[in-house]
Amino acid sequence: MAYRDLNQFIEAIERAGELKRISQPISPILEITEITDRVSKKGGPALFFEKVEGHRFPVVTNLFGSDKRMRLCLGGRSPDEVGGEIKDLLEMEPPDTLWKSIKTLPKLHQLSKFFPRKVEKAPCQEIVLKEPDLGPLPILQCWPDDGGRFITFPVVVTKDPENGKRNVGMYRLQIFGSKTLGVHWHPQKGGAQHFRMAERREEKLEIAVALGPDPATLYSATAPLPEGMDEFVFAGFLRGEPVELVKCTTLSIEVPACSQFVIEGYVEPGERRMEGPFGDHTGFYSLPDLYPVMHVTALTHRKDAVYPATVVGGPPMEDSFLGKATVRIFLPLIRTQLPEIIDIHMPVEGVFHNLVFVSIDKRYPGHARKIGHALWGMGQMMFSKVIVVFDGEIDVQNLSECLWILGANIDPKRDVFFSEGPVDALDHASELPHYGSKMGIDATKKWPEEGFGRPWPKRIEMEPAIKRRIDQLWKSFGLE
Ligand SMILES: Cc1cc2nc3c(=O)[nH]c(=O)nc-3n(C[C@H](O)[C@H](O)[C@H](O)COP(=O)(O)O)c2cc1C
Repeated sequence: MAYRDLNQFIEAIERAGELKRISQPISPILEITEITDRVSKKGGPALFFEKVEGHRFPVVTNLFGSDKRMRLCLGGRSPDEVGGEIKDLLEMEPPDTLWKSIKTLPKLHQLSKFFPRKVEKAPCQEIVLKEPDLGPLPILQCWPDDGGRFITFPVVVTKDPENGKRNVGMYRLQIFGSKTLGVHWHPQKGGAQHFRMAERREEKLEIAVALGPDPATLYSATAPLPEGMDEFVFAGFLRGEPVELVKCTTLSIEVPACSQFVIEGYVEPGERRMEGPFGDHTGFYSLPDLYPVMHVTALTHRKDAVYPATVVGGPPMEDSFLGKATVRIFLPLIRTQLPEIIDIHMPVEGVFHNLVFVSIDKRYPGHARKIGHALWGMGQMMFSKVIVVFDGEIDVQNLSECLWILGANIDPKRDVFFSEGPVDALDHASELPHYGSKMGIDATKKWPEEGFGRPWPKRIEMEPAIKRRIDQLWKSFGLE
């Protein structure tokens, strides 16, 4: 079942025992973070702050911070099940016979169900403020050395200035004033590309920020979809129902009608301001840098709006659950290009793309290196700093097994390979912002065809017959 809006999701997770209300007055300056951080680190409930000091709107945090809530967000399906459905859609064969065309029709019909639907009246426009002031929004200052207050869970919508195609991404926004915000889109992201194009044309770029649409739409803004694929169609697929969109009151852009708040505005070509620092996903402050400035033209909201926020910081936090789901949902998409990949794991301690374990069906000499380079060339996998490639029989979800095989199987001088390229804007270790090096490690068994001259030893395993006999006797030993 699709959640109509965030309110319905909040009710559902509360019924499931996955939300805790906090009725004491709490400050949005650092205090909400301290409480959320303690709870997120334990995979605890979502938090609904009923009284936020100095503000009339309540705040909800940690909405997706457990596997159970992530599953609820995906309509009760696990991320692997969603990945399986994507695989089914991708495996649709081109219909070269009439019979195949007929068989494909139901799937195509299913796809058309996911396209967004336009509506005229929307809950997010119950209140329309054309003299906007961001002051009443309970925007958090998350960490002590943050450059100010930041909107941390925004769904940012822009349009390609040339072909009008939409991009939806989650990019934090810093409050510069009552009508101005810093837009932290990294140079490799969809919003930044639209802005580059607008700057080339010396045009303003319209930008709409939806806060708190339904949970599947919120998640979709974080998803690394291929360029040109509409996040709102993807959200429709996740929900099993189309996303309802309404036109903004001062822009040509459409936003999810069910959102809690919508900030409308534009970014001017050539204008930049220092944004940050901000206590980030890495557990460190990301450094201040120059980012575009959004000028607000309108603020619209529901009468009973709830302000959604996420708190990021040293892992594990809520973003770990979003990231974990993304790896499972998108693995089938990666495997359409690299079918030899068996599994991928980005351990939460490695802050996702900083450390990637991948197992493959090794088919030819040098295969592990090919996988490393191919992943660095694939969408947001470009941000992977360290990729370790294992043989297919290694369970990459098992951190202990990975570390054991990594230590055992590599000759560092031979098996470590380097590359250079784009790195995440949050990376503080690279010599330059946005550009740095990457390391691949081939932890597969080495083959004679790869120049390995010695015999590769067998992994120790007991004979199956002995195992079965001891299994039968096991209980009688009283060892458990
Ligand atoms: C909580 C959260 C905050 C994020 N903040 C940013 C951000 O400030 N800037 C950015 O470029 N990406 C940020 N991301 C990652 C992007 O949302 C993600 O890369 C997304 O796929 C971008 O969409 P796009 O490919 O359409 O640009 C964030 C992700 C999450 C989960």
